[in-house]
Amino acid sequence: MSIVVRSISAYIPPLRITNEELAMRMDTTDEWIRSHTGIGARHIAPDGLQTSDMAVEAAKSALDKANIGPQELDYIIVATATPDYLGFPATACIVQDKIGAYGVAAFDVTAGCTGFIYALNIASSMLEASHGRNALVIGAEGLSRFVNWEDRSTAVLFGDGAGAAVLSRIDESARGCLSFILGAEGGGAKDLFLVQPERTKAFERQEPIVPFIYMDGKKVYDFAVKSITVLIQRLLHKAAYKLEDFAWIVPHQANARIVQAAAKRLSIPLDKFYVNIEEYANTSSASIPIALTEMSEKGLLKTNDLIMLVGFGAGLTYGAAVIRW
Ligand code: ACO
Repeated sequence: MSIVVRSISAYIPPLRITNEELAMRMDTTDEWIRSHTGIGARHIAPDGLQTSDMAVEAAKSALDKANIGPQELDYIIVATATPDYLGFPATACIVQDKIGAYGVAAFDVTAGCTGFIYALNIASSMLEASHGRNALVIGAEGLSRFVNWEDRSTAVLFGDGAGAAVLSRIDESARGCLSFILGAEGGGAKDLFLVQPERTKAFERQEPIVPFIYMDGKKVYDFAVKSITVLIQRLLHKAAYKLEDFAWIVPHQANARIVQAAAKRLSIPLDKFYVNIEEYANTSSASIPIALTEMSEKGLLKTNDLIMLVGFGAGLTYGAAVIRW
């Protein structure tokens, strides 16, 4: 018995904003953004298109590819840092209703940009423990809602989108989700968080309270490089795999320089990593399933390929997974 990724799909909002377009609105340049991050563009959800709407598009397409109906699901888990509603209800419940998966258990996971890996681990463990059949695991983000457009050091980094995977229990044992590492360093919570504007000031000015992203870029950068490096070393040690066994390492797409630095520290050829940040920027918990979808569509993921997912994000959290595709 094993839990396999049966299908993978993504939704990217059509509105594409290039670095040059951003540079017309704020004090930045295409050259700075590319050289410091590897980002060339980002896709932005229009007003009214919620995180759940993007999640639903990705989910419907993943269910079609898996050739199963919503009623065949046991769990719906949405990893998101940008839910439709802050606090409650869970975005997964809205998705459950919109795809017609009536009665199916649905909840969100908050683990910053590591959310998709956390959700994969939770879903595969739950399917295993409950002898369930299928789970829908979604990473979906509408980060542009929380970008502070007056802060060029964060505004250029983020984009919107969603990716969804159908996980299924099968009898074969050699494939599927083989190994996970999850962790967190809560002492870094204040290095990357949603600032809540002061309530009294908002009341005095009669303005809505809109949270926005704050990040200590240097601290998060150092944490990210350390996380990727240590996670790869620990996975290789824990699972007794050799680097050559892996067809791909799929990192969270936050900054191409983070991947380059980790690759250099571990002497891993850069082309072992799949990087698509140039087109989408950082889509937080959606970035890994979007990358997997693109890889699948390009024919880069073959049955039985061994792949490693590595992520890090707000919390600060980190996580990795080994999957035999
Ligand atoms: N355009 C032009 N100049 C800029 C911009 C911009 N968009 N942003 C910052 N600068 C300037 C700064 O003002 C500074 O100028 P100064 O030297 O005159 O003060 C200069 O560029 C250098 O700024 P730094 O912050 O030192 O730039 P750095 O090389 O560290 O790059 C960056 C900043 C890209 C944010 C980097 O720190 C980083 O990648 N951090 C990690 C980001 C990340 O991965 N975040 C997400 C992880 S978790 C998640 O995904 C939610």
